[in-house]
This record gives sequence, structure tokens and C-alpha cells, in this order.
Amino acid sequence: MEKIKFLSFLIVQLFLVMEVVNSQGVEVGFYKKICPNVEAIVKEITVNYISSAPTLTAPLLRMHFHDCFVRGYDGSVLLNSTNGNQAEKYAIPNQSLRGFQVIDAAKSALEKECPDVVSCSDILALAARDAFSLVNGPSWQAPLGRGDGRVSILSEALKNPPTPFDNFTTLKTIFGALGLNVKDLVLWAIRHTIGMSHCFSFPSRLYNFTGKGNMDPNMDQNYINRLKIKSKPNDVTTIVEMDPGSFKSFDTDYYTMVAKRRGLFGSDAALLTNSQAKDYVLWLSQSKPHGSTFFKDFGESMVKMGKIGVLTGKAGEIRKHCAFRN
Ligand code: HEM
Repeated sequence: MEKIKFLSFLIVQLFLVMEVVNSQGVEVGFYKKICPNVEAIVKEITVNYISSAPTLTAPLLRMHFHDCFVRGYDGSVLLNSTNGNQAEKYAIPNQSLRGFQVIDAAKSALEKECPDVVSCSDILALAARDAFSLVNGPSWQAPLGRGDGRVSILSEALKNPPTPFDNFTTLKTIFGALGLNVKDLVLWAIRHTIGMSHCFSFPSRLYNFTGKGNMDPNMDQNYINRLKIKSKPNDVTTIVEMDPGSFKSFDTDYYTMVAKRRGLFGSDAALLTNSQAKDYVLWLSQSKPHGSTFFKDFGESMVKMGKIGVLTGKAGEIRKHCAFRN
């Protein structure tokens, strides 16, 4: 049964990879003639929201990632449930996503400026990029021209995105099926330099790693002791900083944390179990982000993420409201 599930997962991902290859429709400057102010409008709205609620940066970036792993980058994570169908947004990994109001506000401004032209998935791609650059993170030129999906199913959001408990082999398989490589996997580890995590995303590492009441030997003991002060077993509400002390700003310290076995999640610690990934983590932990190619590489990797399974041409629609299909 598990094998069949895994095979069907791979087949779906294969189709998505084919879509990536076929995603010629997305391009930088796609709206230049049909809605020239799109980037300025999304940026202004994102800046306004984030200046009054800076903690929205991290969840917007996370939304970018969660959308692309389920049915490709099609804005399906933005849709509300309908009669008889529960949408992705309500799946447990997505329940802590925030920032939908930023996307909705940008959409309503753009519907006034150029109705029925700009997709919600493109708005998300721009808002996530702008939010990240506001915390001094890398920026990149975003290819646009995606359509929006019409389907959003809660159970798919439980199966597809990688989990914080995944080991390296699983992560490599999931990422590889989407055309992403070990370099992408390591580059994306930096995402956890900003934002918060619920304690329920890593409890076994502190309290019950192999079901025998033990701790994860791959995590630094002093860090475990610090985390245990805040995160108690069965705690479902407490949140902790993923990069203690600098969780609001972008820096490459998270690689130093991972290298010191202080990555919060098993999926971060997994990077040290593969020699190629480990060497890259160690190199990044020592290099200065602005001085190396890190900013450029990260931007390229985010562009790759934004091209996963995009719907172009008639395959997608331009939603009137991002929470509802037309
Ligand atoms: C191996 C893949 C990944 C795993 C297993 C993973 C797992 C997680 C988990 C468990 C949390 C904490 C959620 C909570 O408890 O509320 C989290 C938070 C976060 N993730 Fe990831 N993640 C992955 C990839 C990514 C990627 C690719 C990005 C973006 C480029 C990203 C951006 C974020 C951000 C910004 C937060 C903080 C959210 C907030 O403060 O609300 N993650 N991630």
C-alpha cells in the first residue's frame, strides 16, 4: 500500500517536473504592457502591511513554499473551503500560515488598476519576494504570468510538503521529483533564519527520539536543554524563535546553527548526514552572504521554486478574489 502511495506521489511529481520544463510562459516583465504598475502596487501594499506587522514576513515566505509543493505554484493554498470540499489552507501544516490579507489587499488594488489580468499566484510570488528583501534578505527578478488553480484539497497538503521529521534520503527524493537538487535543499535551509516554530514541530528531538524517552543525539545537548525550558511535552501552543536572538532579520547564522547541530528540525539536521550537503552548509556557515554568490544563488533557487508546476495560458484562471475560484 505504502509503495503504491509512493509511486503515485512520484507520478504526480513527474507531471509537475514536466510542467516546470514546459513553464516557458512565465517571464520577467510579463505584465509590462498589460499592467505596468503591478510590481510597484504589490510592493507598496506589502511594505505597508509589514511596517505595521513585521512578523508577517516569515509566514509570507513560507506560504510561497507551501503553495508550490501542492499542485505546483498555482495559488491553491489561498483558496477557501467550499461546500463539500475542505481546502489546503486548513491542513495542519498550513494552519499557522498568515498574511492572506496582504495578498487580498494587493488583489483588490490590482482589480481596480487592471481588472482580470494579474493572478493571485503571481501576487504571492511578488509579496513573498518583497517581504524577504525587507528583512535584508536576497531579492530576485520574479518571472510572472502564472494562472491560478481551481482545485485545493486539504488531504493533498498533508501528503506533499516535506515534514520537519524527514531524513536526507526522503528530502532528496521529494525535492528531486520536483527538479530541485541538493544545492537548493541547502540554500533553502536559510529560510529558517526568520520566523517562529510551534514546539509540536520538534518534540521527539527533545523527549522521545526513538520511542524510548531519549533525546536526538544529533542535536547539541545544551541547545536541547535550552529548548526544554520553553517547550514541554504535548505542548501545542508555545512558539519559539527558530534563530534565537535574530529571528526577525535575515542572516546566514542559521548555517552556523545547523553546523553546530542547533538546527531546530530533524530536516535541518539531516543536511549534516550527506557529505555534499554538509560541505555546502559548512562553507556557507563561514562565508559572508554579501561577499559570496549566496544572494544570487538563493534568488535563482527561489525562481526555480516559483516555476514548479505553473499553469500558463488556458490551464489556469485569473481569480477575481484570491480566496475563491471564479
Ligand atoms: C525541508 C523543507 C521544510 C520543512 C520540513 C519545513 C518545516 C517548517 C516548520 C515545521 C516550521 C514551523 C511551523 C510552525 O510550527 O508553526 C517552519 C516555519 C517556517 N518555514 Fe519552513 N520548512 C521547509 C522549507 C521551507 C522553505 C523552502 C521555506 C521558504 C523558502 C520555508 C520558510 C519558513 C518560514 C519563513 C517559517 C517561519 C514561519 C512563521 O514564523 O510563521 N520553509 N518550516
